[in-house]
Amino acid sequence: MQEEFLKACRREEVEFTPVWLMRQAGRFLPEYMSIRSNHSFLEMCKTPDLATQVTLQPVDRFGMDAAILFADILLPLEGMGIDLEFAKDEGPVIHNPVRSQKDVDALKIMDAEEATPYVMEAVRQLRHELVGKVPLIGFSGAPFTLASYIIEGGGSKTYLNCKRMMYAAPTVWHALMQKISEVILRYLKAQIKAGAQAVQVFDSWVGCLAPDDYKEYVLPYSKYVMDGLKDQGVPVIHFANNGSTLLEMVKQAGGDVIGLDWRCELDSAWQRLGYDVAVQGNLDPFALFAPPAVIEGKVKRILAQAAKRPGHIFNLGHGIHKETPLEHVQVLVDAVHKYSRLSLSQLLED
Ligand code: CP3
Repeated sequence: MQEEFLKACRREEVEFTPVWLMRQAGRFLPEYMSIRSNHSFLEMCKTPDLATQVTLQPVDRFGMDAAILFADILLPLEGMGIDLEFAKDEGPVIHNPVRSQKDVDALKIMDAEEATPYVMEAVRQLRHELVGKVPLIGFSGAPFTLASYIIEGGGSKTYLNCKRMMYAAPTVWHALMQKISEVILRYLKAQIKAGAQAVQVFDSWVGCLAPDDYKEYVLPYSKYVMDGLKDQGVPVIHFANNGSTLLEMVKQAGGDVIGLDWRCELDSAWQRLGYDVAVQGNLDPFALFAPPAVIEGKVKRILAQAAKRPGHIFNLGHGIHKETPLEHVQVLVDAVHKYSRLSLSQLLED
């Protein structure tokens, strides 16, 4: 197996910098859209053959250095008793949002194999398909991000209901976060048991919080998940989107690799974190709409900032946009592979 991704997660020396892209298994790929035209998104997630096929698409097309399981962060919520739908052009909708202690009490903490057998089956199939290729990343949402969907009933611009519960009904908030954290931990352990070789925890919306609120209302729960994964033998990537102001606390919560969005400079962010963790990132996903020469320049700049320290995984600062030109993705992957083989002085000269 091509090991550069796992080596970088462990901060070992690599021949070249590994690259994969968040949301790489998705709608910017014509081969994804062709399957999607015959199936709903949830159907695809719940059919291991289809999830397997779609997971492999970006690896086969572009030569990504890791595969990420095709699934969604909201899938484990169904087993808790949440009524989830992916409405056309609207994204996820939850028909029974949680707003009270009674609602929290009704949520189930279920066995992950029982609640999401199709996810574990897809992981097992993928490991089989990926023999001799690249490692498989499993994933979950982080406690805050899942709580935000559960409380709001979908995406939100203000997180009003979520923050109202946090501030005005902290007992309910803490009870909910405790339940979600347990579900996440069990879900990730089950993926690892099924064969996931690394896992990423996505805290996609946590950047809406003030640092002191992150510390009080979120950090203990993200830490509970991270602590519970420490003895599982696989690297854990912790990504807090829009979290430049939270980095030190994100590290404190835990993770072998800290994800960086594009709103920070990789070099100063890594310095703040300390070099005893690996980092992943951090190109603006919309930089892929620039011409190839500009993309290459930006790749070199990020690689120069990583400065050949062990422990850098190249990625976008968030998920790839569905209108991204395919050729530009190939430009990016090839540039990372080519320029990361240069010495630092060559990289700076070039
Ligand atoms: O990274 C990958 O390629 C693996 C697959 C993956 C998906 N969702 C597939 C997906 C992963 C890792 C996710 C995680 C996810 N899901 C996150 C965290 C990552 C992030 O971007 O911050 C979040 C917040 C979700 C929730 C979610 N799922 C939303 C908001 C949406 C709608 C997005 C939109 O732009 O419409 C989804 C749907 C979804 N998840 C799609 C895919 C490929 C599109 C479904 C379709 O085909 O219509």
